[in-house]
Parts: sequence; structure tokens; C-alpha cells
Amino acid sequence: MANVLIAGGATGIGLAALRAFRQRGDSVLLADIDFEAANAAVREEGVGRAAAMHCDLAVPANVLEAVAAAVDFGAGELDVVFSSAGLLRVAPLEDWSLDDWDRTIAVNLRAPFLLAQASAPHLKKSSIASMIFTSSTGAYRGTAGAFAYSASKAGLVNLVRALADELSPTGVRANCLCPGWVDTPFNDSFWSQQDDQIAARTALEARIPMRRQGTPEDMVGAILYLGSDSSAYMTGQSIILDGGYSAV
Ligand SMILES: NC(=O)c1ccc[n+]([C@@H]2O[C@H](COP(=O)([O-])OP(=O)(O)OC[C@H]3O[C@@H](n4cnc5c(N)ncnc54)[C@H](O)[C@@H]3O)[C@@H](O)[C@H]2O)c1
Repeated sequence: MANVLIAGGATGIGLAALRAFRQRGDSVLLADIDFEAANAAVREEGVGRAAAMHCDLAVPANVLEAVAAAVDFGAGELDVVFSSAGLLRVAPLEDWSLDDWDRTIAVNLRAPFLLAQASAPHLKKSSIASMIFTSSTGAYRGTAGAFAYSASKAGLVNLVRALADELSPTGVRANCLCPGWVDTPFNDSFWSQQDDQIAARTALEARIPMRRQGTPEDMVGAILYLGSDSSAYMTGQSIILDGGYSAV
């Protein structure tokens, strides 16, 4: 049984991970900005224990509180930190304000760094000792308008390399998950901007070798693998799960 902190998991990939960790008997603290949805998520039936707390990952003190609360919830033990929250703003270059840039970087890149810094001393006592950050296939390509998203997701890929170099002697590992298109509320605003949503989805899916978007459940195998000692020799790496989208 592992003690897990999920940062941002009231919906989407984080929610699928919450269910899967609990299914294998793990204890999970879910920290999310949407406290109502997080509470509903942890009240679902599950094998392992779960609790929710309000946390805005853009606020450094909240990040530190989430790690402290997770250690408390695990009675002093923390084995896995899974960071899933992300912010995507798409706007023409001239419409970006400093605040827009700062908020995305704060959630997507600064919060993972702070999670790493605060959790490392606890994780090093664990035999699993795994940090998992959710990057994106957007780390490997640029998208017009998604400046802070593209930069922050690429930043995570190299953040885990630096963490691997620093923390491996202590037994702590850090890896990224890089999803391609996953059908979650995350993309709602993108789809709502399309003139013809059905045609846009069909065109996208035609470009994915597996001819469909991923589901949050498609991400779970890799998350459970990274969050277990099956991946004990893996650190500083990024796993792409995109139905072959970036392979062609
Ligand atoms: N869905 C996709 O197509 C896709 C593709 C590539 C990468 N990703 C990445 O996967 C991750 C999860 O995305 P998802 O699709 O599950 O999205 P989602 O919107 O379903 O879930 C994101 C969760 O994070 C929480 N959250 C957002 N901002 C927060 C903040 N400031 N503090 C705390 N919690 C916050 C939300 O309340 C929500 O519960 C993101 O990092 C995203 O960039 C998603």
C-alpha cells in the first residue's frame, strides 16, 4: 500500500489516477482548486482511503500545505506524488499579459518544482519514492498561441532530468507522463471554439494512428507503473501516451 498525493485530480486524468490508486489499496490525498468536485471524487467507493483539500497550486504556500497534509494523511509516510493540474491559455502573442504568462508558469512549472522540493525529504524514506509530473506531447512541438503551455510542458521534461541527477543518490525518482489528446474537460474550451465540433473531432482523430483520442483510463497503466517499484530503475524520463500521434 502506498501513500499518494495527487495535485489536481478532481476530474480527467487525475480522477482516473485517484480511482486506480485506491483500487490497488493506496491511500490518497487529493489537493485541487475545485474543492466541491474533489470532495465528490474522494467520496466515491474505493478500497484505499481518500481525502480532499482545497489547494490553488499557483499559490506557493498552498503547495507546501498540500505536501504537509499528505504526509499527515499517510501518518508520516509519502510514497508517490502525482501532479496532474495544468493550465492552457491560447491567445495571439500580442494579447498575452505578464499575469497570463505568470499564472500558467506558476501552475504548470513552479508548482511541480515546489512539490518536488517539499516532498523529496519525505519520499526518500519510501521504497517507491516516485514523483510523476504531467507534461504533454506539447512539450515536443510548439503551438501558436500556447506560449506558456508549450514552454512549461517542455520545462517539465527537463525538470525531471535535473531532479534525477540530484535525487537519485537518495533513491527518489522523478518522471513525466506526456499525454497526447485525451478526452477530458481540459479541452472543452478548445472544442467550443470550433465552428463544427464534430468535423473538428473527426479531422483530429483521422490524424491519430489509433483513430481515437485517449481516455483518462488509457493513462492509468503508466501512472500506476511509475507509482510503484516496478519502475524502480526509471528516472528522469518522459513517457508519451498518444495513440501514436507524435510517431507519424
Ligand atoms: N486532456 C488532454 O488532452 C491533455 C493532453 C496533454 C496533456 N494534458 C495534461 O494533463 C493534465 C491533466 O489534464 P486533464 O485533461 O486531466 O484536465 P482536467 O481539466 O480534467 O483536470 C485538471 C484538474 O486540475 C485541477 N486544477 C486546475 N488548476 C488548478 C490549480 N491552480 N490548483 C489546483 N488544482 C487545479 C482542476 O480543478 C482539475 O481537477 C494537465 O497538466 C494537462 O496539461 C492533458
